[in-house]
Amino acid sequence: LVYAFFLYGSDEANLIQKIVQQVWKKLTCSTMQLPVTKYPVGIDRQVENLLSHVMIDGTRMVGVYGIGGMGKTTLAKTLYNRIADDFEGYCFLANVREASKQHEGLVKLQEKLLYEILMDDFIRVGDLYRGINIIRNRLCSKKILLILDDIDTSEQLQALAGGYDWFGYGSKVIVTTRNEQLLDIHGFNKLRSVPELNYDEALELFSWHAFQCSHPPSEYLQLSKDAVNYCKNLPLALEVLGSFLYSTDQSKFRGILEEFAISNLDKDIQNLLQVSYDELEGDVQEMFLFISCFFVGEDKTMVETMLKSCGCLCWEKGIKKLMNLSLLTINKWNKVEMHDLIQQMGH
Ligand SMILES: Nc1ncnc2c1ncn2[C@@H]1O[C@H](COP(=O)(O)OP(=O)(O)O)[C@@H](O)[C@H]1O
Ligand SMILES: [Mg+2]
Repeated sequence: LVYAFFLYGSDEANLIQKIVQQVWKKLTCSTMQLPVTKYPVGIDRQVENLLSHVMIDGTRMVGVYGIGGMGKTTLAKTLYNRIADDFEGYCFLANVREASKQHEGLVKLQEKLLYEILMDDFIRVGDLYRGINIIRNRLCSKKILLILDDIDTSEQLQALAGGYDWFGYGSKVIVTTRNEQLLDIHGFNKLRSVPELNYDEALELFSWHAFQCSHPPSEYLQLSKDAVNYCKNLPLALEVLGSFLYSTDQSKFRGILEEFAISNLDKDIQNLLQVSYDELEGDVQEMFLFISCFFVGEDKTMVETMLKSCGCLCWEKGIKKLMNLSLLTINKWNKVEMHDLIQQMGH
């Protein structure tokens, strides 16, 4: 390669740089795997279903819609981990809804998109319209995979994936959203709701979190079935309620379900999540509120330092409790993650 550099001058140097980038990308592909969920259930079926709409010849823009907590992000991450290597460039933009609310949020997302797909020097985009032009010019002949997670406005789509002609032939753009109409307006190939977990899968997911095994012990079977009915097969609720049963005694859990039954209300997901919050000790509740309001997405060590310097005396106990209850997770980059429906409890 060095010989080629001297022979052919700077254009060849560019070529070499490109080759090295591609090789590097292939070599490091195991590190780009996104962390998904600890106990995946039914995910193969969900991925196969989505793939059948995505892996059709030509450029595809596919929307996945469904209510919060249903598993859209989990599905999109799993799909990304499976197929990203087949593309010349790939990018998973997480939490677009939240990220675009930040100062110059959309422009920063455009810059991130370009950086991750081109694996090039960082490109300063400056403003939104310039960003759109750069994306179109630089990506129109590349076969890319782009995942836009949790979109909620047309503006975000126009800024990040405004049309089929933005990307090279064979590219795939997958968008997750709670807003089905948005996908209609932008002419997405297919609207897919996440294939729901069936009853057995829901019971299995609950059981993994409540008992750390795939099926409830017989003495807990009826209790678990009642809980699963309340969760209406919604993965987030199954995870949180299951983790709650794991951390509490059976009689207390039974009592709570009985209260649900007496109040005879159709429990929405917020009521179910609230059960875990209500059972926290006061100081851990306070810690939860601080984290949900100020520290989601931040480095765990930094959060620890900040909270301790503000007089928090329950950090070790608190973080363990919140993780056990599935109210937050620490990802492999040591960042604090919290589902936005859980975060909303703190607001
Ligand atoms: N197929 C699945 N198997 C196991 N857990 C799942 C599955 N789908 C979702 N979950 C869990 O449910 C929670 C909510 O899922 P998420 O993908 O964040 O939902 P959404 O993006 O639709 O709001 C996550 O914590 C995730 O771990
Ligand atoms: Mg999501």
